[in-house]
Amino acid sequence: MLVLGISGSPRGERSSTRFLLTKALEAASTVLSASSREPTTALLDLCQYQIRRCTGCDACVRKKPCPESEKDDMPKIEEKMRQADAIIVAAPSYFTSVPGILKDLMDRSRPMKMQDNQLKDKVFAVVTYAGLRYGGQEAVVDLLNRYALAHGMIVVGAVGNPVRDGTFGSGSMQSDDGKWRTSKEDPLAIEGSTQVGLRVAKLVKQLKGTAGQR
Ligand SMILES: Cc1cc2nc3c(=O)[nH]c(=O)nc-3n(C[C@H](O)[C@H](O)[C@H](O)COP(=O)(O)O)c2cc1C
Repeated sequence: MLVLGISGSPRGERSSTRFLLTKALEAASTVLSASSREPTTALLDLCQYQIRRCTGCDACVRKKPCPESEKDDMPKIEEKMRQADAIIVAAPSYFTSVPGILKDLMDRSRPMKMQDNQLKDKVFAVVTYAGLRYGGQEAVVDLLNRYALAHGMIVVGAVGNPVRDGTFGSGSMQSDDGKWRTSKEDPLAIEGSTQVGLRVAKLVKQLKGTAGQR
């Protein structure tokens, strides 16, 4: 059982969303590691990969290989996404949407849909962070959830404390007193992301267990 975290920030290890993703993956690992000797989580930093822009050539619709994939790292990323039982995407709000590197991945993932819905039935969830308290976090989550639905993935949110925890791992650099912080200093964002990881892992376990019984 493998939960793949994809960090969609261009800022690598300095990224606040990446930090929240590590919290989600740590939580997932506590659920899955007991029953596995293999690693149960993996983190993929998109900014370490080269992803060329989709040119809209429609080769994938005609079930032909993507011409861009001969020139960049998409085959490696696709392989990791196919291997995963669940995918958690971490994305900061960029103008209330996702950073370009993540949108490039989304567009370039079209062959996996066109060629037999290769991502279908994977559990999917999102963690996000923004500069402002109301900085487009929910728009980012909505966008990514619809992306996952288009791939036939199973979109989930967190189920934590109903009067304290939100549905997503989410927060802002802007704190209550208007001062700036990172996600490391945002306890609600950390708790929300932890809950996302737990939920994803528990569902993966349930789904895989059920599949094993068939
Ligand atoms: C190009 C760009 C656009 C941004 N747009 C927004 C925005 O619309 N709303 C917002 O609250 N913050 C915005 N931000 C701030 C980021 O969301 C914020 O710095 C976030 O914490 C970065 O996450 P990261 O550390 O994971 O990269 C923007 C930042 C950049 C670089």
